[in-house]
Amino acid sequence: LAFATRLKSVATMAASQEFTGNLKREVEKLFDTSLRITVPDGTSVETEVAASLPGKPGDYQCNNAMGLWSVIKGKGTQFRGPPAVGQAISKNLPASEMVETCSVAGPGFVNLVLSSKWMAKSIEKMLIDGIDTWAPTLPVKRAVVDFSSPNIAKEMHVGHLRSTIIGDTLARMLEYSKVEVLRRNHVGDWGTQFGMLIEYLFEKFPDTESVTETAIGDLQTFYKKSKTKFDEDTDFKEKAQKAVVRLQGGDPIYRKAWAKICEISRTEFAKVYQRLKVELEEKGESFYNPYIANVIGELDSKGLVEESEGARVIFLEGFNIPLMVVKSDGGFNYASTDLTALWYRLNEEKAEWIVYVTDVGQQQHFNMFFKAARKAGWLPESDKTYPRVDHVGFGLVLGDDGKRFRTRSSDVVRLVDLLDEAKTRSKTALIERGKDKEWTPEELDRTAEAVGYGAVKYADLKNNRLTNYTFNFDQMLSDKGNTAVYLLYAHARICSIIRKSGKDIDELKKTEKLALDHPEERALGLHLLRFAETVEEACSNLLPNVLCHYLYDLSERYTSFYSVHQVIGSPEEASRLLLCEATAVVMRKCFHLLGITPVYKI
Ligand code: ARG
Repeated sequence: LAFATRLKSVATMAASQEFTGNLKREVEKLFDTSLRITVPDGTSVETEVAASLPGKPGDYQCNNAMGLWSVIKGKGTQFRGPPAVGQAISKNLPASEMVETCSVAGPGFVNLVLSSKWMAKSIEKMLIDGIDTWAPTLPVKRAVVDFSSPNIAKEMHVGHLRSTIIGDTLARMLEYSKVEVLRRNHVGDWGTQFGMLIEYLFEKFPDTESVTETAIGDLQTFYKKSKTKFDEDTDFKEKAQKAVVRLQGGDPIYRKAWAKICEISRTEFAKVYQRLKVELEEKGESFYNPYIANVIGELDSKGLVEESEGARVIFLEGFNIPLMVVKSDGGFNYASTDLTALWYRLNEEKAEWIVYVTDVGQQQHFNMFFKAARKAGWLPESDKTYPRVDHVGFGLVLGDDGKRFRTRSSDVVRLVDLLDEAKTRSKTALIERGKDKEWTPEELDRTAEAVGYGAVKYADLKNNRLTNYTFNFDQMLSDKGNTAVYLLYAHARICSIIRKSGKDIDELKKTEKLALDHPEERALGLHLLRFAETVEEACSNLLPNVLCHYLYDLSERYTSFYSVHQVIGSPEEASRLLLCEATAVVMRKCFHLLGITPVYKI
């Protein structure tokens, strides 16, 4: 009887199963149910479902039979080996309109073939209700993404560009997944460098009030000059050191000069953010200053802080150096600020997931203060449990010579120039294709910008972030291969097919049916349905390249479909136009998540 009741509740469950967007999860739910019926009470199993590799018999496979067999064999089971367990898993699969067939292969792989009808219906539904209905749901409500974070008056370099691009994408993916994201620019605005900068400013511009950006010129050069003076002139050095104390003590004249320097830097940074269309809220190191003493005091009262060579440090297992939290001169440092910012984000901002995007070179710093925070009981022991912190590290940007990326003219790369060059080059390419004669100057400019900036972003995002990547304009702006240009053009071509058909696509969505009868149509449809699970994976593992890979695959599948099937004028025209539209919708969402502006005409 117990068994019968269980079956009944299972059946009800299957009937009420709504597609939430995450295809893999839906398949998992079916196998979960089947496994609960198949295995004896009390056996705990974790459902193992994976997308099948191309060319394999199913769309998804359940790989539990072998593992389950090794658990239950010899314990009076009715099964005779893994294939029999697989058969039972297959047989116990609840009835669902999602499933076409389910069969067992080899030593017990259970292969599930999805119903093409159901697939088509789900895509139709997405076209009507919008792709946001496919958005993943993550187990957090609020997250902090700490990214970009250049240092005031110092160089904003390609590393900061990578951080800006990767951080923005992660923020976008989390936002799409209904997480409230606090996009934080943790600028370095509180170092000892301000002493010398301020004194130098006083010397060069006694009338500090009226100093403008143009008067100072390049803040980086200003920094270098003040540094030279600091190193060579002992009187100046002394003055600068006193200036730090006066600034940190809150002297209004020094605070004003500091604010001025920050403002000039901010205007510089804003130019990069504007071009990239990246939004960020600045909460720099200085913001946390009023809280530091208390936070370090709390760690001290927990017995974590010890004396070492005049400094105050936290010893951590697994690290051969301690984490310094108070310098020997009594001042605070990068780590004390980061600990305080973490405290603030957890307690004041109530963030459940805090993600830091910097080069891998800073990994040790992050691992150390994360560990200190665990020791203080601010974070759970397990690093996958929420509230959770993650350091998203990335590799270097290299030039063609395989060394750190530099321009010929100077030893630093001005990011604004770099982005402008990408745009200029893409404009030249468009003019070579005669687009200046076809389009208005605004259209040309807009497209050049979308393609140029998109190319820079995509070149950065498509590789696993931990690997170094080579910055090469020719490569990233090529219209062949895995580039933004290729993908943007592919999208534009789909849009142009829809336009050329002369059909009102919104009307078609309401009146026509989508069919996935041919293998290429079905393969494309299946890939579309895997969008949400891909975003979820990219989000959970903080890997934008997963989404890039998906997008590239999508355009490849579209090409396979389009190269063998006629769209306009074929008997299947309406259905195929809907499939084109669904592809374009998913591509646009990918572009959006990658921070790339789509192009509709090419
Ligand atoms: N300003 C630092 C740098 O340029 C990056 C800051 C990253 N964020 C943080 N919370 N530590 O290297």
